[in-house]
Amino acid sequence: MIPAVLPTYNRAPLAFVKGEGSWLIAEDGRRYLDLGAGIAVNTLGHAAPELVATITEQAGKLWHVSNVYRIPEQEKLAQLLVDQTFADTVFFTNSGTETAELAVKMVRKYWYEKGDPDRIEILTFDGAFHGRSTAAIAAAGSEKMVKGFGPLMPGFRQLPFGDLEAFRAAISDRTAAVMIEPIQGEGGIRVVPDALLREMRRLCDETGALLVFDEVQCGVARTGRLFAHEWAGVTPDIMMVAKGIGGGFPLGAVLATEAAAAGMVAGTHGSTYGGNPLGCAIGATVMTIAADPAFLAEVNRKAALFRQGLEALVAAHPLVFENVRGQGLMIGLKCRAANTDLVKAGYDAQVLTIAAADNCLRLLPALNIPDADIAEALKRLDAAATQVEAKVAADATA
Ligand SMILES: Cc1ncc(COP(=O)(O)O)c(C=O)c1O
Repeated sequence: MIPAVLPTYNRAPLAFVKGEGSWLIAEDGRRYLDLGAGIAVNTLGHAAPELVATITEQAGKLWHVSNVYRIPEQEKLAQLLVDQTFADTVFFTNSGTETAELAVKMVRKYWYEKGDPDRIEILTFDGAFHGRSTAAIAAAGSEKMVKGFGPLMPGFRQLPFGDLEAFRAAISDRTAAVMIEPIQGEGGIRVVPDALLREMRRLCDETGALLVFDEVQCGVARTGRLFAHEWAGVTPDIMMVAKGIGGGFPLGAVLATEAAAAGMVAGTHGSTYGGNPLGCAIGATVMTIAADPAFLAEVNRKAALFRQGLEALVAAHPLVFENVRGQGLMIGLKCRAANTDLVKAGYDAQVLTIAAADNCLRLLPALNIPDADIAEALKRLDAAATQVEAKVAADATA
């Protein structure tokens, strides 16, 4: 019999009843060190006092009003984002997937308004993940995501990841846009080299194609800069943000330049909940904290500390791990053993990690994870690796 919850997830037999900073407490009282943070969502950890204060205060005043009215909390967060980034304007959503939908609509409308409605091709990349809507799965194009859901929305063409020559050959003055995650998350913490992002910007400028960065997973201070593309010194025309911006509250945002957003006039897009007072009050607290240079410096310091320990972990378990990759606190451990075995061994060691494609183990801790918890994480990861190593050795002699 089908469960009451639609079984689209392969769930671990764990349920949590409370969260404190980087820790999750299970039904049976066990404490798990959470290095997944809801897949890069709990920017400030669980039950962060700043966010509890914000949500409590706002909940006592006003949760929701329709976007048919002005929403001062939304205007405040939009202005913060405009001041902090390349963008001139912002639309708020409830999820990352919805940002993909709007990004695609914005690109199409841009070319429609320019009198070129057939210019619809958006270049995307192998291993990409932009969400689970019909447009987002068509953008990613992987068999795993699209099989059984056709016919797919037309207008997407996937290119090999990290291949400059393939990109040069594909982009033309018929390309509507390029959509790319500066660091692939679900694809296995694969970092697009800065030089490639810069070349993409240059070729987009040359051809007129819009450049769309999906920073749903890598944005909001996760890499040690407020947005990951800042490392490369280039800016997009459109940017998708979600996950970390709400710190656990469902919130997303599409940021755009005035030129890219020119077609999105009244009546062209909307959302019932997107940008409501509760979500935007929380988003403003997160973005104010995340953009503080002292906070970003701490993310980088913690990332260096964690990285150093992880390099030693990888060196100590060569049968289990291959290398460490990523940027800031968006960390991937490329595995030799099955990444899913490591996730499971982590449950025994009471440390939570997330599997990703390319046999990668993802570590996306709260950005304010205390140094002591980093030290504890390294110990627990070592215990998990030791367990998997024993299995690998046993399998080899069997
Ligand atoms: C890069 C990227 N884009 C889009 C999404 C979709 O976001 P959501 O699950 O909030 O719809 C995700 C989610 O993992 C993501 O990592």
